Amino acid sequence: MERRIKIFDTTLRDGEQTPGVCLDMAEKLEIARSLARLRVDVIEAGFPIASKGDFEGVSQIAAQIKGPVIAGLARAGKKDIETAAQALAKAERKRIHTFIATSDIHMEYKLKMSRQQVLETAEEAVRFAKTFTDDVEFSAEDASRSDWAFLCQVYGRAIAAGATVLNVPDTVGYTTPAEFGALIRHLKENVPGIDGVDISVHCHNDLGLAVANTLAAMENGATQLECTINGLGERAGNAALEELIMAFYTRKDYYKAVTNIDTKQIYRASRLVSTLTGIAVQANKAVVGDNAFAHESGIHQHGVLNNALTYEIISPEVIGVSRNSIVLGKHSGRHAFEERLKQMDYNLESETINLLFAKFKDLADRKKVVFDRDIEALVADKPQVRPEWYRLVYHQVVSGSQSTATATVRLETSNGEVEQASCGDGPVDAMFKAIEKAVGFGVELKDYQLKAVTAGEDALGEAAVWIEAGGEVFLGRGLSTDVIEASARAFVAAINKRLATHGYPETQQAAEGV
Ligand code: KIV
Ligand code: ZN
Repeated sequence: MERRIKIFDTTLRDGEQTPGVCLDMAEKLEIARSLARLRVDVIEAGFPIASKGDFEGVSQIAAQIKGPVIAGLARAGKKDIETAAQALAKAERKRIHTFIATSDIHMEYKLKMSRQQVLETAEEAVRFAKTFTDDVEFSAEDASRSDWAFLCQVYGRAIAAGATVLNVPDTVGYTTPAEFGALIRHLKENVPGIDGVDISVHCHNDLGLAVANTLAAMENGATQLECTINGLGERAGNAALEELIMAFYTRKDYYKAVTNIDTKQIYRASRLVSTLTGIAVQANKAVVGDNAFAHESGIHQHGVLNNALTYEIISPEVIGVSRNSIVLGKHSGRHAFEERLKQMDYNLESETINLLFAKFKDLADRKKVVFDRDIEALVADKPQVRPEWYRLVYHQVVSGSQSTATATVRLETSNGEVEQASCGDGPVDAMFKAIEKAVGFGVELKDYQLKAVTAGEDALGEAAVWIEAGGEVFLGRGLSTDVIEASARAFVAAINKRLATHGYPETQQAAEGV
């Protein structure tokens, strides 16, 4: 008999807490849509009291995403819980997820509360959350380092107050599979009323054990697993959704567990999250890394050619990767392009397809063959902010080992075009400085990355630029077969995002050094 396991995705909450990740509203909605296509059971959409952006993100996702339960996180206090309830108001199905720490170290140094106070606060929080929704999840933060007898008491009080899900977090990624499995078994055997609720686990990856700990918990009675796409999350991240799902899928014989996930959506969700967060997936990452299906050694290649099962335990199609990835070239027409988009499961409006087709034609003129990966990149490269304050119209760079790099740039604005030139320490620096001059203010660059979308000297280059303003970080992305152009586009996109949030800086600090 197979057990049905629920998947609780926290990419938009714990994943969004990854350093450097800063998703705007449109990006949060795009990820939430992708999670709904994956058919996760619960989307934790954010921590509404944490910021205006989090509140708005949860509200919009609650209003627009149908299917999964939408959860909002709240500390065990009235203001947090009320704010979460307000943000979730429009959800078809909503959950308030409230938490308080239960380990001695957290109670003494962070909360400065006694065990008795924590017990009472947890119970009150669940009771209060129940006044807004029947579906209430309670988490004992740092459960894996808490006293087991005390944990049983806290969870017992949460159930008595009406909690429908008990979450057991390994907040600092400290536990081991055998120990965590034993803890879940202990809770199952010792918390009164636990059989009537879901037992959830939430594992961090500080020791690289998040997925193993989650699976051990599931074998010992956990019915809901918390995870993120690509294993994003605080510090070393959370258990990776794709790894858990493919463990169940590949080892049905062993785990005898099923989820509601559509595995064919895994690869696309992974690419989308990587593109929008700017956090690259390492090449040898299980399931979704670039090398996950690459066979390098002759012996392996020979085996796979005779029968893929010799060395391939997951067939790429199962997670939505097509084996035949050469698709189109410069003679392909709009119809073929649209068909390919459909095969790749993109459901786009005709106007968007027209825009993409123009970009595709431009790309096909510069590149011999256009791969599925190129098309994915084009789809992800939609304008990130609407309306855009600045648009790159023209750029030129002169650089060499014996000369100072100089760049000229022309930007379109609502007041017409503006052109500026600058020298710099290399072509990218010169280009960024010319753009700063053109927009009229200085920009604090936090990080810059450049990578090729596919192999080959004519590959598309994907640039990511992080800038900081007012304590917030903004990520801009740019795409082109010309890496300087990709970098310039990414820089302009980051500036547009900053302006969409903060408006034009009152003091034009540009002058200095620009
Ligand atoms: O890691 C953790 O303990 C958390 C809780 C808020 C569930 O993220
Ligand atoms: Zn966490």
